[in-house]
Amino acid sequence: MPSRLIRLSLRFVLPLALVIGLIAYAVVPLIDNLTLRWFIRDLDARSQSLAIALQEPLFEYVPQKADKRINQLFDRALRDERLYAIAFCDPTGTAIYKTNTYPASLGCRTEQPRDGRKESLVSFPQGPLHVSESQLDIDGQALGKLILVHDMSFIERRSADTRKYVIGLFSLLAIVISMITVFVAHLSWRDWIASVKGILRGEIGMQNRSQTTPPEVRPLESDLRALLHEFSVERRERDDSTHLWTPEKLRDLLHDELAGDEVLVVSNREPYLHARTRNGIEVQRPASGLVTAVEPVMRACSGTWIAHGSGSADRETVDRDDRVPVPPANPSYTLRRVWLTKEEEKGYYYGFANEGMWPLCHIAHVRPVFRSSDWDQYVAVNQRFADAVVAEARTDDPVVLVQDYHFALLPRMVKEQLPKATIITFWHIPWPNPESFGICPWREEILEGLLGSTILGFHTPFHCKNFLETVDRNLETRIEYESSTVSYGGKLTQVEHYPISIAWPEQPVDLSVIAECRKTVRDEHGLPSNHLLAVGVDRLDYTKGIIERFQAIERMLELHSDLVGKFTMIQIAAPTRSSLDEYQNFETRVRTMVQRINNRFSDGNYQPIILKAEHHDSEQVTRYYRASEVCMVTSLHDGMNLVAKEFIAARDDDRGVLVLSQFTGAARELHEALVVNPYHIEQSAEALHRALTMPEAEQCERMRSMRSLVKDFNIYRWAGRMLLDAARVRQRERILSKIRSHSRKSLRRVV
Ligand code: F6P
Repeated sequence: MPSRLIRLSLRFVLPLALVIGLIAYAVVPLIDNLTLRWFIRDLDARSQSLAIALQEPLFEYVPQKADKRINQLFDRALRDERLYAIAFCDPTGTAIYKTNTYPASLGCRTEQPRDGRKESLVSFPQGPLHVSESQLDIDGQALGKLILVHDMSFIERRSADTRKYVIGLFSLLAIVISMITVFVAHLSWRDWIASVKGILRGEIGMQNRSQTTPPEVRPLESDLRALLHEFSVERRERDDSTHLWTPEKLRDLLHDELAGDEVLVVSNREPYLHARTRNGIEVQRPASGLVTAVEPVMRACSGTWIAHGSGSADRETVDRDDRVPVPPANPSYTLRRVWLTKEEEKGYYYGFANEGMWPLCHIAHVRPVFRSSDWDQYVAVNQRFADAVVAEARTDDPVVLVQDYHFALLPRMVKEQLPKATIITFWHIPWPNPESFGICPWREEILEGLLGSTILGFHTPFHCKNFLETVDRNLETRIEYESSTVSYGGKLTQVEHYPISIAWPEQPVDLSVIAECRKTVRDEHGLPSNHLLAVGVDRLDYTKGIIERFQAIERMLELHSDLVGKFTMIQIAAPTRSSLDEYQNFETRVRTMVQRINNRFSDGNYQPIILKAEHHDSEQVTRYYRASEVCMVTSLHDGMNLVAKEFIAARDDDRGVLVLSQFTGAARELHEALVVNPYHIEQSAEALHRALTMPEAEQCERMRSMRSLVKDFNIYRWAGRMLLDAARVRQRERILSKIRSHSRKSLRRVV
């Protein structure tokens, strides 16, 4: 209450007091002065005309000494209530006729009036008097002087009245204006506050902006949103960074935040495939960043992973519902395989996904190919997988994790059948700019499909921005850039960046293992113990910059011939999508180049590049990471590139240098790598040389910093952040649906 009073006086009483003070001390004296001058001018004029009127009879009576008549004349004149006294003085200066009221002290006003007349103000105890003197002449001879005295006390009375009215009027005006101002300010303040509160609660912006946000708040709206978004990102990152994310923490999160809700993963590539070999059926882990990242998450979360069964012995290893528990050695979740015909695989996977979307999104100078027949298969296969999700779901509101560009249409398809599902889609490859994406003949359908997701994730903020701009260019939606949301067909999609990572190895550091790897790898290749090694681990894909990497090696050996015979690059290249011409041609180019470079520098035994174009399991790859001085990642464009992070995780000895393409998502995080433009061959060559000759202390400093980052920002954090965001959305939707059903019930009661 006292604070209200203080606020009231500050807002209202204080300005009012200021206005009244201003009136009393400045306005009123000004008005007084003005009116006084008007009255004096008025009395001057009156005195002058009265003197003229009296002059005629006085010319007659004075020479005759007609005292009685003169007195009568004066008495008549005094009937004017403002005329106070009259006197007539002879030329000697004696007042020979005067009324009783004439003040003796005035005498005959000795000063000679100018122009025959003189007026002045004289103060008396009864108030100020206005004295006017008029010289009367007859035929050039002075008759005498007429003195007229007016009472001016009425001016004071009038001035007092005027002051009263002026102060009253101005005060009233000030009160009215203040009240109107306070009232208007109050109303707009309430609106303003309501709008700002709405923005803070996230209400405004979800509907039609022009209906909800007053114009004066609009310029602020985007800033407020951006600020809120920053706060929430900061808070989330702070929350995240307080603990190391582990499989246990992810499990706890599922239990606490998602109440153990069902988790389903959909991807094209399966985490385990069964292959028929000479030794019988073997379990293999495909070379896939997606699998590397998502598999540990599924181990922690359990649930079901739906994927294309592409292994030659896959059908033999499933139950009658096409399910198989995995990992085979210690099952913790279910793999549900979906079978595709050769035709489906050709159109959907090789055709639309890998000849169309893959080059489209990577902008790696390979023309995307779009065929209607591929598109038809893509639609059909997306529908088959969507149906599989619905069939596998035990509840009507599962959390569905959709992976990659193979399933752009699936989020909407699932949403149509399971409207309560929370769909988190993660796009593992880059998202191009709107101009490049514009090439796709089915761009609107792709975007509509993806906007069926509750949350849509990319690796980097840059890919999110590209996506939002592409949506803006192609669909009628409402986009909030600050909060990164798209509203389409009444549904909201949160577009967020979640940089993917790897599971940090749990085994304790054992430096003897590193020494062992260094030795055995060199022995296996007949290399001396001090031979310098670089490693590259990629699928044989044209986006990986393998050709550019080899060109850089060649240039490095040209520039630093002392390293010829002392350095070798081991390139592990897993065959991939080999039935596509583009990939076959690429493999041929790679092999030809390796041969040419090796021939150029060879002295019989020495090979600068050892190409191992075959599948390697993760243990084998880790050995190479540990044995090498340098790891080269030179992708021409890559969503994240997990090889970079795997190399770091493998270096328990804090040694080794990473040469990393600036066009990978990883380059946004791993600042201690030697970052290169893979198209700049000289630069990459120098970076490789610098890496091979880097002092141990510098290697150690760089590697430690990157290791601590990858350890903290591991795959459990990636999944945890997405699931936490999903949990928030689910909670909000549950509350909303409770409110809706409550208000429906209340409405029914009223009716
Ligand atoms: O990079 C995109 C991606 O889907 C990855 O997630 C994965 O590492 C790779 O492509 C595998 O491709 P494919 O499954 O066609 O062999």
